[in-house]
Amino acid sequence: MAARTAIGLDIGTSSIRAAQLTVSKGAVTLDRFGQVAIPPGVVRDGEVIDSDAVAEALKHLWSSAKFSQKDVVLGISNQKVFVRQVDIPWMPAGELKNSLKFQVADLLPMPVEEAVLDFVVLNEVMNEGARHLRGLLVAASQDMVLGSIRACQKAGLKVTTADLTPFAVLRAAGTTDPMGLSGPEAVVDVGARVTNIVVHEGGVPQFVRILLLGGDDVTGAIVERLGISAVEAERLKRSPGALSSPAAADARRVVDAALAEFVDEVRGSVDYFLATSGSRPLTRLVLSGGGSLADGLAQRLATAVRTQVEYGRPFSRLTIGKTGLAAQQVQLVEPLAAVPVGLAMGAMS
Ligand SMILES: Nc1ncnc2c1ncn2[C@@H]1O[C@H](COP(=O)(O)OP(=O)(O)OP(=O)(O)O)[C@@H](O)[C@H]1O
Ligand SMILES: [Mg+2]
Repeated sequence: MAARTAIGLDIGTSSIRAAQLTVSKGAVTLDRFGQVAIPPGVVRDGEVIDSDAVAEALKHLWSSAKFSQKDVVLGISNQKVFVRQVDIPWMPAGELKNSLKFQVADLLPMPVEEAVLDFVVLNEVMNEGARHLRGLLVAASQDMVLGSIRACQKAGLKVTTADLTPFAVLRAAGTTDPMGLSGPEAVVDVGARVTNIVVHEGGVPQFVRILLLGGDDVTGAIVERLGISAVEAERLKRSPGALSSPAAADARRVVDAALAEFVDEVRGSVDYFLATSGSRPLTRLVLSGGGSLADGLAQRLATAVRTQVEYGRPFSRLTIGKTGLAAQQVQLVEPLAAVPVGLAMGAMS
């Protein structure tokens, strides 16, 4: 049964964020939102490394944001998750659950007994005269998923569902009105070290890519090329204009080069999708996540991917309740909220 209240939990590389939604009479309200920064190394590239430190951060988050329950929907996105479009012989939905592992064992980059599997059916196709199901195969390392769940348990939380983060981003930031779209849309969440790309049509995901690349790679390039501390580099990245030249000009050049590399990677993924799917061109690219706030990124992407680029508005379909956040804070956190909001939305549908 769909939940009335759900909390989406996003354990990111630089921050942990959670959003509590409540549905009442068809309207969805953002009840609570909280975030807490975590030190480097506690979560590496989207994967929990130090579960005690994550548990401490979660306890702090729960007491400061005053969430009303301990059940959570947890987002998963890192290099130990594999998502590919595959065709498997047709079978009734009821059989899929049990026989999926036999159908896809040969397609996985990990032993099937060490994977948590899911299959999102896209449509039916005929292959060599036989009926097949075409869908997105999701395989995640069981150890990695259990590691995240254990960190939550240590904080007294119960993970009711583990969901793929790109699906959450799609729910919260994608344009799902089929009348408003005349082709595929890409939704891209840029984090500190992980970038989630999902291409969908009318809310149905067609393609998912998880890139190990994000805002921290831009900061890292500044540290390396200008020989300054990470804190200084982060400050420079966010406002390169604040420095007097010629340091500002140097920083701008380094940031530009790092952004160009990042944009190339995103373009590569989108081009791969377009070339392999025979799809119509993208109608739009929607951005979210802290890394997407980098100055000039949207314009660069628009040129490289040859489409319109907009920022997602994960709060636009929500009523903002008594979150405890001031209106200005709500505005500041919205670009960072697609993942936890989309995770909670998934439990309500
Ligand atoms: N105003 C800004 N301008 C440029 N970059 C920014 C800005 N605000 C945040 N960032 C960058 O966003 C990144 C953090 O984004 P986010 O909080 O979405 O990541 P995360 O969810 O913790 O990590 P991940 O999703 O990679 O596991 C950092 O690299 C940070 O430098
Ligand atoms: Mg993130």
